[in-house]
Amino acid sequence: MQFLGASAFGAAFAGSGGGSALGMALLGAGKKRSFEPLPAMADDAVVTVAGVDVDILIGYGDIINDAGEKFGFNNDFIAFFPLVRGRVVPVNSVEALEAREALLWVNHETPLGILMHGNPGPLRGGPPKTADQVREEQLAVGGSIIRIVRSTRDNRWRFGGRHVLNRRISALTEIPFAGDVAIAGSKTATGTFGNCAGGVTPWGTVLTCEENYREFYGDLDAGYDFKPGSDWRKHVRLPEWEHSWTPHVFHHPWHYGWVVEVDPLTGRSRKLVAMGRADRECATVTTARDGRAVVYSGDDHRGGCIFKFISRIPGDLSEGDLYAADVDRGRWILLSWEKNPALRRNFRDQTHLLLNARAAGLAAGATAMDRPEDVELHPLTGAVFIALTNNPDRDNHHGSLLKIEEAGGDPLAMEFTASTWIAGGKETGFTCPDNLVFDRTGNLFFTTDVAKDKLHHGPYQGLGNNGLFVVPATGREAGRALRLASAPVEAEFTGPCFSPDEKTLFLSVQHPGEYSQFVDGKPRFSSSWPNNGRDTGADGKPCPALVALQNLPLVGSLSHS
Ligand code: FEO
Ligand code: CA
Ligand code: CA
Repeated sequence: MQFLGASAFGAAFAGSGGGSALGMALLGAGKKRSFEPLPAMADDAVVTVAGVDVDILIGYGDIINDAGEKFGFNNDFIAFFPLVRGRVVPVNSVEALEAREALLWVNHETPLGILMHGNPGPLRGGPPKTADQVREEQLAVGGSIIRIVRSTRDNRWRFGGRHVLNRRISALTEIPFAGDVAIAGSKTATGTFGNCAGGVTPWGTVLTCEENYREFYGDLDAGYDFKPGSDWRKHVRLPEWEHSWTPHVFHHPWHYGWVVEVDPLTGRSRKLVAMGRADRECATVTTARDGRAVVYSGDDHRGGCIFKFISRIPGDLSEGDLYAADVDRGRWILLSWEKNPALRRNFRDQTHLLLNARAAGLAAGATAMDRPEDVELHPLTGAVFIALTNNPDRDNHHGSLLKIEEAGGDPLAMEFTASTWIAGGKETGFTCPDNLVFDRTGNLFFTTDVAKDKLHHGPYQGLGNNGLFVVPATGREAGRALRLASAPVEAEFTGPCFSPDEKTLFLSVQHPGEYSQFVDGKPRFSSSWPNNGRDTGADGKPCPALVALQNLPLVGSLSHS
């Protein structure tokens, strides 16, 4: 398989636009507008600060190509690939500013039977799922590639309709393991799911991360050893809340929990074994001074690790070194079976170690973190920001953002300093930070994720629905979290992603009405968003969708009035 090499784009993909000609052009063009932040609210709507328009681009079930493939369910991470004369160009290039078409990669994390086909499944009070219902769910996860176009009339981005470049990758797509590696006796996996957050490589591919993989085909203990011909199904543990697919379809759990690399132009994909297997939230890429890729990622688990991966060569993630963070001592620990005696005692070989990356990290002395989720790099300083969502097991209900500063500002460094940058809670007005995105001037935008059944209860009382916040980099409100938008009932905003000119923020509205109940054999919906006449919303049924926020205030350059 040929993936695009680093040379296809050079350094342009890697740099931020902050100090560049592009950055200056954007700063000059930026509109200055003050705004009044939103209070905590409970509305069943996408509510924004004044002056922002919300366009729905596409929602679950919309047909994307002539093959009849559909936009998936529970859209999450979004990546923007500007298209110029049929080529993908770097998002930070001047060319990108002129692009009138683009490809979006969009993750589809989980199915939700009650909102899709009306059956929540046997673990939620419904009947067993039929084979057709399971297949519908399999086709609804993974990722979508969709072409969007910018109107010459109003300069707004819209879904471009059915197109040959629009594709789906789902739980049914055959995906090889990178490096020709066999995992549990197979060099390919059937499908991808649990696709939560992700990243974009300097060479123009997307990284989509398999997070809560065990909810589909369960998991195996770290001590399990695969023996060809043995019945591995007998060893699988399914969690209490799983999707009830296994009566119809069952694949080896080792095939999931990876970072998957996808070429957005061709849809070709591969699972990156060298980066390890965990509850992989995201994979955020930067380029080191010697051209190698460095990837930071969270492992969203109570007691999960923060990982760093350094590629062996520039432009390719199929080989490299995996590290886990010892946050207490400020050091990166190499997870090498060969070089670490403690890991040799715990694991049979490097592949066995990689299959159990969190256990390996903890065995080697890495710090158990409070649900490390998204990671973003500051566009001007390179500092690494990590959302630690929460951990009720340790009475950490509101989470925080951790800032890691590599020694010498070098992503290849083996030492760092770590500090809490901002903590959630009643005083700061936000809770459970999850997805992050910086604009070029260093304003940090983040979304929050309080679990649907915890919203407005206990420690979360008074903190409202989930939302989109900004922490301005400068001005009177610098360092404060201000609510820019509020999500519909039981929904979570995910995947915030800017257009090249930063005038549009693409955002996923995930799982509105997630806690809808099944009563007397019928769904009773707790949300009706968007309920605007769409096929899926006209009957009052909630529907996840991708929205574009237009005219978001550029808060870095203004004072709050
Ligand atoms: Fe899918 Fe950890 O959020
Ligand atoms: Ca997340
Ligand atoms: Ca989340």
